[in-house]
Amino acid sequence: MVDRVRSVVFGEAVEQYESARPGYPEQLVTEVLEYAPAGPVLEVGAGTGKATVGFAAHGVDLTCVEPDPRMAAALTSKCPGVRVESGRFEDYVPDRPFTLLYSAQAWHWVDPERRWDLAHAALAPSGALALFWNRYVVTDAELGAALAAVDHRHGVTSSSLHRSTSVQAEESEHLLAHDPRFTDLDIRHYVHHTWYPTERYLDLVRSISAYRMLDPAAREPVLGELAALLGDGVEIAFRTDLTLARRAH
Ligand SMILES: C[S@@+](CC[C@H](N)C(=O)[O-])C[C@H]1O[C@@H](n2cnc3c(N)ncnc32)[C@H](O)[C@@H]1O
Repeated sequence: MVDRVRSVVFGEAVEQYESARPGYPEQLVTEVLEYAPAGPVLEVGAGTGKATVGFAAHGVDLTCVEPDPRMAAALTSKCPGVRVESGRFEDYVPDRPFTLLYSAQAWHWVDPERRWDLAHAALAPSGALALFWNRYVVTDAELGAALAAVDHRHGVTSSSLHRSTSVQAEESEHLLAHDPRFTDLDIRHYVHHTWYPTERYLDLVRSISAYRMLDPAAREPVLGELAALLGDGVEIAFRTDLTLARRAH
């Protein structure tokens, strides 16, 4: 069951989202395009275009589905050449068979009862499905545990920044492995490290739905306690988990 309110809180913090969230490795984009047959590409939950820019740079014919008008406005100004369909993927009616459907950090927001049927219907035979998520790990394990303890004290328990897991990728792998409509399952991982100065890190926190769901009055003490632990900043290891599969027939 998708939390509908939580699924569209990102546009409230569009500036922080755009400045603080990481993008996706160029190598991932290249490998997804190598795996997929050539043709029209569909992105689900494009947000401000963090993944879109990489695919658009390859000159693909790209359609993006995005329900939040504030995120969509940022996307359009960043990637003027792509077609943007406003609305949820559940309500989108594909106007052509796509040879690639990808979704970055967004597939878990689409109705779990319908998303595999919708993906299958949107893809051409042999068309590729590429689902990916970034996980954040504070490289200093002791500091990471102290940051997680702040979350826990304030009741931020699900999908907090300091307890990110690969559950969404693993669930997708499992379901695709057992769905005869998809084949050629391929799992890949990409890791890179980034230094986050404290203010940028706090913007990253502000862009995450688990913290956005707190009242602003409850959110500020969390940010204050996290900042007090950080000093100048923090090194984060970003691990991108990619699940690839192909429509079988
Ligand atoms: C965490 S953001 C990811 C945005 C972007 N792909 C990125 O990697 O930065 C999730 C996005 O999914 C969108 N979204 C939420 N529910 C959706 C749905 N049912 N169909 C399509 N997109 C949805 C949100 O509006 C938001 O822009």
